[in-house]
Amino acid sequence: MKCTVHASKNFVIGTADKRLFSSFVEQLGRCVYGGIYEKDHPLADEDGLRTDVLNLVKELDVPMVRFPGGNYVSNHRWEDSVGPVEERPMRLDLAWKALDPNQFGIKEFMDWCQKVGTEPMMALNLGTRGIDEAKDLVEYCNHPGGTALSELRKSHGSEAPYDIRMWCLGNEMDGPWQVGHKTAEEYGRLASEVGKALKLFDPSLELVACGSSNSDMPTFPAWEETVLDHTWDIADYLSLHMYFRNDENDAETFLASSKKMDEFIETIVHVCDYVKTKKRSKKTMYLSFDEWNVWFHSNEQDKAEPDWKVGKHILEDVYTFEDALVVGCLLNSLLKHCDRVKVACLAQLVNVIAPIMTEDGGPSWAQTIYWPFYYASKYGRGGEVLDIRLNVPSMKTISMERYHMQMQCLCTMRKNRNLICSW
Ligand code: AHR
Repeated sequence: MKCTVHASKNFVIGTADKRLFSSFVEQLGRCVYGGIYEKDHPLADEDGLRTDVLNLVKELDVPMVRFPGGNYVSNHRWEDSVGPVEERPMRLDLAWKALDPNQFGIKEFMDWCQKVGTEPMMALNLGTRGIDEAKDLVEYCNHPGGTALSELRKSHGSEAPYDIRMWCLGNEMDGPWQVGHKTAEEYGRLASEVGKALKLFDPSLELVACGSSNSDMPTFPAWEETVLDHTWDIADYLSLHMYFRNDENDAETFLASSKKMDEFIETIVHVCDYVKTKKRSKKTMYLSFDEWNVWFHSNEQDKAEPDWKVGKHILEDVYTFEDALVVGCLLNSLLKHCDRVKVACLAQLVNVIAPIMTEDGGPSWAQTIYWPFYYASKYGRGGEVLDIRLNVPSMKTISMERYHMQMQCLCTMRKNRNLICSW
């Protein structure tokens, strides 16, 4: 069969926001401790930051990095991670069953961002905490001075405000695994009040409301509708998360992963526009795909890793060439939807399902998935994405068929129980 690609500079989808090439640093495994920060490493600088890792990150030219979680953020007290490091408490992190020494906190992250040349995207704990702690954190970070918390920041060595522009209203609050998991109603109400408080402080802050943790969640996409009903006026973005796996050794389906990403984005765009119409609103809800990657290689070995220690060796996927192809296709999917997806974070940056790996006390290196991300980040940003049409052979992927069959079964079961089918 003849393959044809039709492209015209007159058919433009949109301009690719540079923030499509953002990433994510969670207090998880060895992403921070033994990853970006290792004070006894021979290549560590005066702040304990690994300069070899800094250089690899700089090469990727990541415009924004999400921090400090992830699941971690939903049980974290930000107050533990500021002030003199020797006075910071050791805590239990219930999300990852680890010890959290709080040695690398907000100031250390902000200093790291400056050295790397990136912007922070800060996540708030809406699992165990609420309006008070969120507004306090924003005052600590962004208010110039003259208040208790802005003066506290200054006394901690940061005279100028951090001026963090983008804030995530919680993380994966639809997931039963989340500490402080909520129903869509509970989360929507809380997020709208937290968002209101933040916008009272500074209406120009950009806020991200939590969408579903993935499209297989039983509450997807009803979750999005309810959350948007509550947060429409204060949210600027709705988040999407999705990880891809090939643990059934089905290369065809795995290599078609970007189809699943396409469908996920397009469904959520429809939900956003449905809520927009319902509300007779003129606002466009943009999307923040703030966690995406391939994740499955480390699942078995993680079971053997002991709990309650600092720097657990978990989620340390070693990537193949096949994974790099999938990551490349996923980047294309993000670009193809750049009219609505303005932010995307490759999860994560170092050691934890990451393009960069390190050995404690040893070398660091780029994994296979580093390279598609590197080239997309280097050449993909700022340009206009064309709406191309392909005429190429296609194939059916067995697992996709099975996936759709499962969805149909679920639909029928729901219909039989007189429930509204959401697919
Ligand atoms: O990136 C790893 C984890 O995946 C994050 O902590 C969580 O948000 C998601 O489930």
